[in-house]
Amino acid sequence: MADLSLDLCGVKLKNPVIAASGTFGFGREFDELYDIGQLGGISVKGLSLKPRTGNPPSRIAETPSGMLNSVGLQNPGVDSFVENDLPWLLTKNVAVIANITGTCVEEYCGMAERLAPTGVHLLEMNISCPNVHEGGVAFGVKPESVYAITKAVKAVSRQPLIVKLTPNVADITENALAAQEAGADAISMINTLTGIAVDVHRRCMILKNNTGGLSGPAVRPVALRMVWQSAQKVKIPIIGMGGIETGEDAAAFMLCGAKAVMVGTANFTDPFACPKIIKELDAYCEAQGVARAQELVGTLRAY
Ligand code: SIN
Repeated sequence: MADLSLDLCGVKLKNPVIAASGTFGFGREFDELYDIGQLGGISVKGLSLKPRTGNPPSRIAETPSGMLNSVGLQNPGVDSFVENDLPWLLTKNVAVIANITGTCVEEYCGMAERLAPTGVHLLEMNISCPNVHEGGVAFGVKPESVYAITKAVKAVSRQPLIVKLTPNVADITENALAAQEAGADAISMINTLTGIAVDVHRRCMILKNNTGGLSGPAVRPVALRMVWQSAQKVKIPIIGMGGIETGEDAAAFMLCGAKAVMVGTANFTDPFACPKIIKELDAYCEAQGVARAQELVGTLRAY
């Protein structure tokens, strides 16, 4: 077996495979199928200060090699998470990443303060949700606002801060650099690409919100390109995601410069996707004669 372990911003992970926020709930349903302690980490569904019901249906559409979602950050609120889910998650021997959202800078800071005294290992600041009218991606498009919100939240965070970036920009590397300059400990990329789905028979939109975020294998080449470009620019760790379904997909992100990966949409098509990817990554390392998976990071060669 290869050594898959890593240190992510001072937190020990047994492997680089993390369940992506919004695709894994708080882990309970998956733990009925397999021990979620096998995973490197879990990024929980995006949390807000107050509970949110999310957007009205229809809010999911299947698309070629992917899906569109317009969930709108439905969640039970941070207090419910801290009281009901976190104590259980902390018994699972897995890194717990709290994905935080807000409608204004004060709310993002309030989330970081609320989670500071808890056992959460890392924070992932979501400034890239395309499905809400207030907050979300509004903070994640311009490098100046990425810088400002990262600086403000970092100042009150006790856990290492990961900033989750949107691909819906001209040059994602500018935002990666802005996050780094403001003190982010890591970046995760990419969140979903904005799209629409059309019902030609009813001649109307399929999603009630009109637009949604595209994820799944369809976005993988875009995500790989963005991770690769950002890895040339920033020194902080990158967590890569976008359509990962196999161990070799995970390896591709690591070759492009990702220290760890997040697996999202694949959890919907195969609930065993994460443990399968861990096994396949191990097999890939063995086949490549790589003793430590971290040796792969950023070693992609030109053609
Ligand atoms: C959602 O809840 O709308 C998805 C979250 C995200 O895209 O960040």
